[in-house]
Order: sequence, then structure tokens, then C-alpha cells
Amino acid sequence: MRIVAIINQKGGCGKTTTSINLAACLARLGQKTLLVDMDPQGHCGVGLAVPEEQIERTIYDALIDPSDGRVASMEEVAWQIATDFDLAPSNIKLAGFEQVFAGRAGREDRLATALNTVRDKYEWAILDCPPSVGLLTFNALKCCDEAIVPVETGYFSLHGLTKMMETLEVMRKQCNKEIMVRVLPTLYDTRTKLAREVLSELRSKFRDYLMESTVNFNTKLKEAASFGQPITEYDPGSRGYKDFVNLARELMGHRPVEIETTSAENMGLLSRPAELVQRAKQLAQLTNYQFGRGTIPAQPVAQPTAQPTVQIAQPAQAPAPSPAPAPVAAPRLAALDPRTVNASDNVTITHISPPPVMQISPKSTDQKLSEFYGVKKIGDDVIFAVNFQDAKKVLVAGDFNNWMPVSTPMASGMRPGMWVAKLPLPPGRYRYRLVVDGKWMTDPNNKYVETNEYGELNNVVEVAA
Ligand SMILES: Nc1ncnc2c1ncn2[C@@H]1O[C@H](COP(=O)(O)OP(=O)(O)O)[C@@H](O)[C@H]1O
Ligand SMILES: [Mg+2]
Repeated sequence: MRIVAIINQKGGCGKTTTSINLAACLARLGQKTLLVDMDPQGHCGVGLAVPEEQIERTIYDALIDPSDGRVASMEEVAWQIATDFDLAPSNIKLAGFEQVFAGRAGREDRLATALNTVRDKYEWAILDCPPSVGLLTFNALKCCDEAIVPVETGYFSLHGLTKMMETLEVMRKQCNKEIMVRVLPTLYDTRTKLAREVLSELRSKFRDYLMESTVNFNTKLKEAASFGQPITEYDPGSRGYKDFVNLARELMGHRPVEIETTSAENMGLLSRPAELVQRAKQLAQLTNYQFGRGTIPAQPVAQPTAQPTVQIAQPAQAPAPSPAPAPVAAPRLAALDPRTVNASDNVTITHISPPPVMQISPKSTDQKLSEFYGVKKIGDDVIFAVNFQDAKKVLVAGDFNNWMPVSTPMASGMRPGMWVAKLPLPPGRYRYRLVVDGKWMTDPNNKYVETNEYGELNNVVEVAA
């Protein structure tokens, strides 16, 4: 178990936000994580909607001696928040810890002793410290392997940080152990000159300590806390989510990934015409895929003898007129009023306008559509197309996105029930699965599968060079 203390004596610099969302993201990445609230204000419980009146045992009960009352086990204290994510909550009782333990031997090792009992149960313990450097923080420092100091990229932050680093050094010496201390810039607002200056100052002054990750100011993080949810639940398309996934990945020793932000917050910025243009682009792409446009899908290299299940119409078979629109696109296109499309958006939608004379019987259209589902390489992209009629959300997770479905939502396709993802995958072998309305499943349109360690089937796609 790796123990990470989130420490800063300054309040409001994002300790609790970092603790909650880092823990949630580690858990989302499959790491069994315990979040320990060492602040008597109990903000972790509030930010994760643990009903205060139902909290019978807190971390305080796991830290005390039998002479102080009944000692609780960590198992009794922990609340399950999500898969692989537990919280050891606190409340105001913890404020009495310092007084109760004043003058007692071993008072700074209480947390270490409590966490030792669950060392094999969790891969990570994240400790949310109070905004002070008293006995509670000392307990956290005493047992942690590393400390993260969130620093708000604001006016007084640099002065406060220098003091905090000095204090940490004094405490570290008292603890008589090595602790890796790192600074995490938080509440970073790219739009303000001050924040940019503070960040560059941080880079020059604390270069060796600075984490690669930065947590941007993102109102979704604030909202998530007020709704009692980690960002993984509240808005996995937000920038806040992306920042915390990258922070978790950095701790795990991975490089950051570019996660597309797809939240309503970003969509909200799109004017309706822009949305329509986006939709039009999507439809245009799909139309192109379906009718080949002269592109020939690559064959999976894993099974050199196997034929792709889908034959995209070759130029020889496809009716020649160019552009060749798909009849099935027409009903959807009718909903797109070209008049609302802003000319300055620089999108040509003429090639997906209602079809010219091109007779394709309904049967052959259906046939082509059913043939379209599956995975194939078109140009530099790999297209995943699946059919789930009643699904509300379809995601794809695999080797290409670290098995994080939330980073790759599929877009709804050109007809009801169709979901499509277009990924620019470099040549290689990828395993993947689908997540349909929260349920993991095998792609029924890709017959190439292999068993995973859970005894389920992963789909396999090999992208040729
Ligand atoms: N990256 C962020 N973007 C927007 N708001 C944030 C961010 N980080 C923290 N906040 C908000 O700032 C306030 C203080 O953050 P908090 O995590 O409670 O700090 P601390 O635990 O250090 O006192 C909270 O209202 C929180 O929602
Ligand atoms: Mg806090």
C-alpha cells in the first residue's frame, strides 16, 4: 500500500478536492484505494454524500486506545463509495484527538498502526490533512511514503508555499524518514496573467518538486462536491476529470494522456449552428464510410487468412455518382436545416444533401448497414461501429485508452441504435470491450476474441501498418 498525504496548512487550496478526486480516479483505474479524512471538518464525507447522522464510527475510533473507549477496526470505519474506493470518514470528534493524546508516548504513530491493519487490502491510502500542522498532520506525515502539497496558483501562494516547505522539512526531520514531497499546482486559471506568472515562478523555484500534472480551475469540481459526488461520477467528460486522471496516472508512473472533454460544459459553449455542423460532419463521415469512397479496409493482420466480415462497397460495385449520399441519412438530414448552419464554419454539407436519383432497395440498405457493424480500418482511423437499439450510452475501453471507457464515448450513428467511435490507432494489436449503459460486454460484431483474466472475452483488433 502506498500512502500519500495531501498536506498544506493553508485552507482552501484544494486539499479535499484533490484527495477525493485523486482517490476516485485511482479507483477508476482499477487501484483499490482508501481515502482517510484526517480533518475534523469532515469535508470528505460531505463531498461524497456520506450521511453524517449515519456515521457511527470515524477514523477517530480507529486511532484511540482501549482506555479511551471501544477501538474500531478500519473495516468498521470504512464506507464503500464506489468500486475499489472506500472512505474512512471523520467528524468533529477528531478535533479532540490532540488533547486526548497530549503527552502520551507513540501519539504520532496512531494512524500508522491503524493503516497497518489494512496494508494488504488497499493499494493506495490517500490522507486528506487538516489546514494546520498539529498532531493529526504529524500522524499523516509519519506514516506516508509521499506528500503532495496542493498550491493554489494565486496571489499569496508562493509565500505560503515557502513556509510550508520549511515546516515540512522540520517535520520530516522529526519523523526521521525520507518522504517524497511534491507540489501540485491547483485552481489554475489559464486565463489570468497572475496564475500563469505564479505557475512559471513555481516551475523555476520548485522545479525539482513540481508535479507534471496541474489541476485547472474547473467549476465542475465545485459542483461535483456540492452534489456529493467525485468527478468520476459527476462529469467524466470534464476538464477536472481529465486533470485528476492524469494526476493518478502520474503517481502510477504513467505518462499523461489526452482525454477528450465531452461534457455538457463544453457542449454548452457550442451554439446550435455549430452543433449542427458537428452533426453534419459526423453524418458526412458515416456516409463516406458506408459507401467506401474508394477506401479499402485493411485486413486484420492477426488472422492473415481471415476475410474482414464486412466488404465496404468497392468503387466497381458502388454507384458512381459523386458525391454518393446514403439514402438512410436523408431522414436525419432533414432535421438539419442548412439555413442554420453558419457559413463561416467552413463545412461543406452539400455531399450529404438529400440523395439524387439512386435506387437502393431497403433490403440492400439494411444489408449494407448490418455489414457495416464491426471494426475496420479506414484511412488512418479505426472505426468501431456497433448496434445497441435501446442504449443510452455506449463506451469503448481497451489497450488504446488504458481501459478507461469514460475517455472514449461512442457517438450515435446515422441510424437509431447505431454507435460509432473513430480512433486514430497506430499499427498494433489491441484488446477492447464495450460498456453499454454501464455494463461491460463483448462486441458482438467482432468475432476475434480472447479470454481475459476474469474469464470473460476481450475482443481483439489488429491494425496493419
Ligand atoms: N480545481 C478547482 N476548481 C474549482 N474549484 C475548486 C478546485 N479545487 C477546489 N475548489 C473549490 O475550492 C474550495 C476549497 O477547496 P478544498 O478542496 O475544500 O480546499 P481545502 O481542503 O484545501 O480547504 C471548495 O469550494 C472547492 O470546491
Ligand atoms: Mg479540506
